[in-house]
Amino acid sequence: MDMATIAALAPVVPVLTIERVGDAVPLARALVRGGIPALEVTLRTEAALEAIARIAAEVPEAVVGAGTVRSPQQLEAARGAGARFAVSPGCTATLLQAARETGTAFLPGVQTVSEAMALADWGYRLLKLFPADAAGGMRWLQAVRGPLPELQFCPTGGVGADTAPAFLLLANVACVGGSWLAPRDAVAAGDWERIERLAAQAATLKRP
Ligand code: 3PG
Repeated sequence: MDMATIAALAPVVPVLTIERVGDAVPLARALVRGGIPALEVTLRTEAALEAIARIAAEVPEAVVGAGTVRSPQQLEAARGAGARFAVSPGCTATLLQAARETGTAFLPGVQTVSEAMALADWGYRLLKLFPADAAGGMRWLQAVRGPLPELQFCPTGGVGADTAPAFLLLANVACVGGSWLAPRDAVAAGDWERIERLAAQAATLKRP
């Protein structure tokens, strides 16, 4: 599956920071039940790679990927664990080269027009705008629509249930990313029903 196909699966890609391996499968199942199949597990915890591996093995309806990928080594480790896509907060030449060589579905992060232009030169048409809110949010996206008409974005960082609907109405937004579908307290309490409800709300958000 290429990145555009993965981004089209649902309006929201949840950004999951998993502290306990045992939370991975029930969390993924709750999100999938709510209608959110593409899941980004950030490589920010010791549990992350094992969490990806368990979701890949035990939740076949999910499309699990790795987030916060910053090096080719992390990309390789994520692929080895079963990640089907990778997301980065930025875009370095070494990472882009590794994604190309391994054929990984990759969502690189940008914050400037120059970065977006460089990635367009690499052939990318779908980019993560990160940190979306701090970078200018909806006004940034509206402003680049004219000069960068072929590019689509997944704004992430500071996007929540309150702002996601407006982001998704923008013509150059393919989907949004965010951590609000898996609140820390709900995961800690194993409140999978709450997470399923949050996912179900997110799954109904409209895209143009
Ligand atoms: C992150 O950096 O954790 C992601 O971009 C998610 O950001 P958020 O917590 O603001 O949704």
